[in-house]
Amino acid sequence: MPWRDWIRTIEVEPSIYGADFANLGDQLEALLRSEARIFHFDVGDGHFVEPITMGPVVLQSIAPIIHRYGGAIDVHLMVDNPVMHFAQFAEAGADSVTFHFEAVDDVPGTIRAAREQELQVGVAFNPETKPEDVAAVAADADIVLCMSINPGYSGQPFQEEAYERVEELRKLLPERIPIQVDGGVNDENIRELWHRGATLFVAASAIFGREDLPRAYRRMVQALA
Ligand code: DX5
Ligand code: ZN
Repeated sequence: MPWRDWIRTIEVEPSIYGADFANLGDQLEALLRSEARIFHFDVGDGHFVEPITMGPVVLQSIAPIIHRYGGAIDVHLMVDNPVMHFAQFAEAGADSVTFHFEAVDDVPGTIRAAREQELQVGVAFNPETKPEDVAAVAADADIVLCMSINPGYSGQPFQEEAYERVEELRKLLPERIPIQVDGGVNDENIRELWHRGATLFVAASAIFGREDLPRAYRRMVQALA
């Protein structure tokens, strides 16, 4: 199913990296009951980014919970050689994979490799990469992810330069490709990011870092209302 069919114009995506892993299933259910439907799953390989985060075995356990509610899982691959992992993530229940512009030599070829696994596909880029370089090769992607932190860790402060980068990217990309923002997104900056052209908002700390997860999720959604 294409990204366009999953998303309700705008989506706040809880980023599972910020979860309490001893209570992961319960936390996901609580968010699903509050209408969260798209979940972001961060994979770090200890190479492309410093930390090793989580992989297909974790995804496999939680994908059925999310799919039961009609939700979808967006896997953010912060890894070298992403193509090597597409089949395993597809098998584990991923709906989409987003790879990094900086991690591959051939962006269109990598997009095709994801489609061969019947995955939706996104292209992510780091704060030091120029939006124009990404836009030039991302025409066949389903989404483009503009990082608003250096990828790796959750809980870093939002980099304000992201506002302009999103705006620039919006002008460069075809209308049909939604822009996702990831890193330090919260109920204070989400609205401005939307004004600049983003429609998919990833948030770990701003949701999982709060006492009441459903409330934190709803606050983010309401900030866009
Ligand atoms: C980190 C990940 C992010 C992370 C965001 O590099 O790509 O998805 O979970 O965490 P917060 O929302 O805390 O910045
Ligand atoms: Zn991410």
